[in-house]
Amino acid sequence: MTLKNPEKNKKTPQKRFRGKNILVTGCAGFIGWKVSQLLLEMNKNVIGLDNINNYYDPALKRWRLASLKRYSNFSFHKVDIGNYKKLKKIFEENRTDAVINLAARAGVRASVEDPWVYLDTNVKGTLNLLECSKDYRVKKLILASTSSLYASLDMHHWTCPSGRLP
Ligand SMILES: NC(=O)c1ccc[n+]([C@@H]2O[C@H](COP(=O)([O-])OP(=O)(O)OC[C@H]3O[C@@H](n4cnc5c(N)ncnc54)[C@H](O)[C@@H]3O)[C@@H](O)[C@H]2O)c1
Repeated sequence: MTLKNPEKNKKTPQKRFRGKNILVTGCAGFIGWKVSQLLLEMNKNVIGLDNINNYYDPALKRWRLASLKRYSNFSFHKVDIGNYKKLKKIFEENRTDAVINLAARAGVRASVEDPWVYLDTNVKGTLNLLECSKDYRVKKLILASTSSLYASLDMHHWTCPSGRLP
């Protein structure tokens, strides 16, 4: 007996994304910088956003930013994605085809020490981007999520016998 493969005759979509203007948040970060660079090399226009915070040495972020600024198809806005008003203005002034959200607070331990800043960026910032994308009819939004989200896991299992986070 031969098993029929239901996927066999299915047409797979081969459409490539043709959007030209990509808004990348966290463009001075480890991943956002590399993603921006790849997009710029693909001749896309990158609208980069970052608040250059001091979670780690901002000199490294400034160095990454300087390397992106060498591309004529790159523009940069120093902005906090938690600031809805400022974010909205950027969408208003820049036609955007897709958003890649890589501006995030990562790190589990720091999220326990200061949960508010995580709430402002990872939750409110993402919500702001979703609202702006809806209002300005952006077709695609990619969210990297963050390693500091461990949803329903019981944090009790992450603690040492001393009761402190490892
Ligand atoms: N690096 C990894 O190996 C890895 C693995 C899995 C998932 N991720 C996820 O990918 C995302 C990016 O990670 P990364 O390693 O590039 O981190 P990163 O800290 O190097 O980059 C984040 C960037 O976002 C900026 N930023 C943070 N909050 C902001 C805000 N409110 N407004 C504007 N800019 C803000 C920071 O200044 C920074 O430049 C995170 O969600 C992270 O959890 C990373």
